[in-house]
Amino acid sequence: MKKSYVYFLLVMFGLLLNACKYDFIVPEVTTPVDPTVPVSFSTQIAPIFNTETCVSCHKTGGQAPDLTTANAYNSIKTMNLANTTTPESSIIYAFPGSSSHSWKGYTASEAQLILTWIKQGALNN
Ligand code: HEC
Repeated sequence: MKKSYVYFLLVMFGLLLNACKYDFIVPEVTTPVDPTVPVSFSTQIAPIFNTETCVSCHKTGGQAPDLTTANAYNSIKTMNLANTTTPESSIIYAFPGSSSHSWKGYTASEAQLILTWIKQGALNN
């Protein structure tokens, strides 16, 4: 076997290994959320569902949960999507960024905000 061919194979193998790397959360510079400052559902959480266009799919009469501003809180409560006992396992926090969701999910800072809101009791504030 020619030496150059061996190098070629090594490079291809390297590329193949690299292709398997996948970052679920896009790296982003985040300012940590202060856990002692109350997170407001209406002014901080509900807009995430709108600005991140969750509502293009999760609209009234569309894919559940209905995340439109008018119905988001109700959907989260009735579908039990926020788990205040183990906040990290809340569906509204963990599912959107998972590989089983058909969309990219939250940015790192949005995810942090949602987790903090759940830890504070998932209030309709
Ligand atoms: C392109 C359409 C689309 C977008 C955009 C989208 N979703 Fe979804 N979502 C789905 C579908 C379809 C499902 C059902 C599970 C599946 O097939 O992925 C789902 C399921 C979910 C569930 C799970 C509900 C359950 O019953 O367990 C949650 C929570 C959710 N989405 C939240 C979000 C949030 C938050 C956003 C925005 C950050 C978002 N989704 C954006 C299509 C979408």
